[in-house]
Amino acid sequence: MDAGEFALSDREFNRVKARVYAEAGISLSAAKRTLVVSRLSKLVRALGLPTIDAYLDHLERAGSAAQAQDFINALTTNLTRFWREEHHFEHLATHVGGLLQRARPAAAGRPRLRIWSAGCSTGQEPYTIALSLLAAHPDLRRWDFRILATDIDTSVLARAAGGIYPESELNGLSAGRVRLFERPGDGTIRIPAAAREVVAFKPLNLMAAWPMKGPFDAIFCRNVAIYFDKPTQGALFGRLGGMLAPGGFLYIGHSENLGTGSTGVRPVGKTIYQSAPALRARAAA
Ligand SMILES: C[S@@+](CC[C@H](N)C(=O)[O-])C[C@H]1O[C@@H](n2cnc3c(N)ncnc32)[C@H](O)[C@@H]1O
Repeated sequence: MDAGEFALSDREFNRVKARVYAEAGISLSAAKRTLVVSRLSKLVRALGLPTIDAYLDHLERAGSAAQAQDFINALTTNLTRFWREEHHFEHLATHVGGLLQRARPAAAGRPRLRIWSAGCSTGQEPYTIALSLLAAHPDLRRWDFRILATDIDTSVLARAAGGIYPESELNGLSAGRVRLFERPGDGTIRIPAAAREVVAFKPLNLMAAWPMKGPFDAIFCRNVAIYFDKPTQGALFGRLGGMLAPGGFLYIGHSENLGTGSTGVRPVGKTIYQSAPALRARAAA
């Protein structure tokens, strides 16, 4: 235990686990115990409380919405990077033409493309979608093309909206991909306005009701469900499948599988699924 950190008894750890599971669906494993102590200690200290137990009592009895949000923000895992699991972006860029042929006519008559990055963290995933699709299909600039990027963690969304990252984020990217970023020469990289403008960042708890109607032509929900237990994963993937347009794609993380949420979609590639309405109708019959 570092100086300034609070002790975490089994009882306190179980209380933390129960709260984050009830609120966010996140199942904290014993391996996360050290992380829980270091992250919550800062919040406990800032409130001038003597123990993690007292902090949890405070959240339950008198905590503000902002303090409840700080608790969630402290316990999420936000690891991400540009072009993570790159075959997904290549697949989508290849299939955008086909998606648009099936696209619903928009009011203004422009082809419409809707993508959702669910659990977008600091924004690298939705910006990679925007950068790679705009590079592969420059005419998308004239289309009704929007990416909804959501996360339960409001602190990552604030960073994502800025569209500014350290230059080290470019490590490992090809020269062609590096060229897609603005590089002002001050140690940062910036997302060009054309890509920033198509992405809208919004707070959303995937365990709660979803305010948007959809449907989406593609949904990315990658490396989010790994923190959930099997029944929660199955329910989430089933709901996501129901938000897809016919023929739309669902992309999940490399170590994830749909489990019981596989109705209505069929596998079409490594961790890629396509909405097949006939399957959904058969499952519902
Ligand atoms: C490891 S990051 C994955 C980021 C990105 N999708 C990727 O694959 O690189 C997981 C994200 O899921 C978010 N998350 C966890 N539980 C959530 C929930 N119940 N609702 C919405 N987002 C959640 C976390 O805040 C975190 O930013």
